[in-house]
Amino acid sequence: MNNLFAERMSKIPRSFVREILKVTEDPKIISFAGGLPHPESFPYKEIKSAASKVLSENSQEALQYSTTEGYKPLREYIAKRYLLKGLKVDPDEILITNGSQQGLDLVGKIYLDKGDTVLVERPTYLAAIQAFGLYEPVFKSLPLLDDGIDTDALDETLTSQKIKLFYAIPNFQNPTGITYSRQKRQKIADILKNHETILIEDNPYGEIRFMGEDLPPIKSFLEKSVLLGSFSKIVSPGMRLGWVVAGKEVMEKLVTAKQASDLHSNYLSQRIVHQYLRDYEVETQLEKIRKMYKRQRDLMIAMIGKYFPHDVEYTQPEGGMFLWVTLPDGLSSMELFNRALKEKVAFVPGEAFYTDNPQKNTLRLNFSNSDDEKITEGVRRLGTAIKNLMITEKFNES
Ligand SMILES: Cc1ncc(COP(=O)(O)O)c(C=O)c1O
Repeated sequence: MNNLFAERMSKIPRSFVREILKVTEDPKIISFAGGLPHPESFPYKEIKSAASKVLSENSQEALQYSTTEGYKPLREYIAKRYLLKGLKVDPDEILITNGSQQGLDLVGKIYLDKGDTVLVERPTYLAAIQAFGLYEPVFKSLPLLDDGIDTDALDETLTSQKIKLFYAIPNFQNPTGITYSRQKRQKIADILKNHETILIEDNPYGEIRFMGEDLPPIKSFLEKSVLLGSFSKIVSPGMRLGWVVAGKEVMEKLVTAKQASDLHSNYLSQRIVHQYLRDYEVETQLEKIRKMYKRQRDLMIAMIGKYFPHDVEYTQPEGGMFLWVTLPDGLSSMELFNRALKEKVAFVPGEAFYTDNPQKNTLRLNFSNSDDEKITEGVRRLGTAIKNLMITEKFNES
C-alpha cells in the first residue's frame, strides 16, 4: 500500500531524463537527450583481454568478497594520476564506489540531516538533486556564469546563512558544459576557507578536455573538500566504477556508510579495469575519446549556427558531453519538446535541472552519443521545431 512508503520518497521525482529516454526508445527518434558516451569509445578488445587475464590468472581472488575501500593497486593508480595533475593524494584517501553516483549518495548519507541546506549551481546535475534529496535537505541555488558560479553571491550566501554542502561540477558541467576559470577556483577556495561549508567537487568529465588548458581541481587549493571521480566516461559506465577523495576523518564515515550500502564495489570490475590500466596506455584511450567528441561538438555547433534562429544562445564547451541552449525569453522548452518529438528529435528540457524557479526557455543537448549524420539531421529538425514554435508564439526571427 502506498501509504506505507517512507515520507521522503514522495518528495523525490523520478528522473525526468530516464522518463524521456523511454519515449526516445523509438529508433526513428534522433535523441540528444541521454548522457551516454559513444559506444565506439569503449575499449572493448582491451577490456576483453584484461578480463580474460584476470579470470585466468586471479579468478579465485577476483570472484571473492573484498575490502570496502576498494582494490589498493587501483587506488594507487588513481593517486598517481592525480599527482601528474599536481594534486597529492594518499591512496588511503580514495574510496572506490559504484560509480560517482554512489559517491553522491554516500556524501548525502554522512553529512545531511533533514532541513540542512545544500547549495547547488543553477542549473545543476539532476541525479545529484535526487541523491541528496533523499536526505531531505533544503536546496539553495546560485547563478552559474560563463566562468563558473557567481562568487560574490557565494560569499554573501555563506556569510549570511548556514550552508552545509556546496555541490559544484567545475569541468564541462552537466547540464551546461560550463567550466570554472582558474581565478574562480582559487576564489572559491579562499571563500570556503573562511566557512564551515564542505565543497563537494564532482568531476566525471575532467579528462575529456578537447580544447583549452587543463585546470587544477579546486581541491588543490582547498584540502578539506571532497572530490569525486569516475571511470564511466573514460572507460565504461557499465563497469560502474567511480571514487571519492576525502581526508581521513571523512573517509572513515564514508567507509562505514558504504559498508551499510553494499559492503564494497564490484571487485571483478575493479580488477578488470585495473588490469586494463596496467596493460594499456590510458592516454591513447583518452585521445581517442577527445578527438571523437571534439568532432561531434564542432559539428553540432556548426549545425546550430546553420539551422537555429540567430537569437537562440548556446554554450561552446571545451570538453565533456553537453551543450546548453537558451531560447528567446518567453519560449518554453517543454512546449518545444512536444513539438520536437513530432519532428522525431529529442533533448532534455532545462526545467529538470533546477531546484527552484526553473528557467523555462533552456534545454540540454548531448553530442557524445550521436554520429555525424544524426547530429546534422537532428539539429536541422530541432531548428525547424524552434522556428515553428516562434511563429506560433509570434516571435520575429532575427
Ligand atoms: C555531474 C555528474 N556526476 C555524476 C555522474 C554519475 O556518473 P557515474 O555514476 O557513472 O560515475 C554523472 C553522470 O552522468 C554526472 O553527469
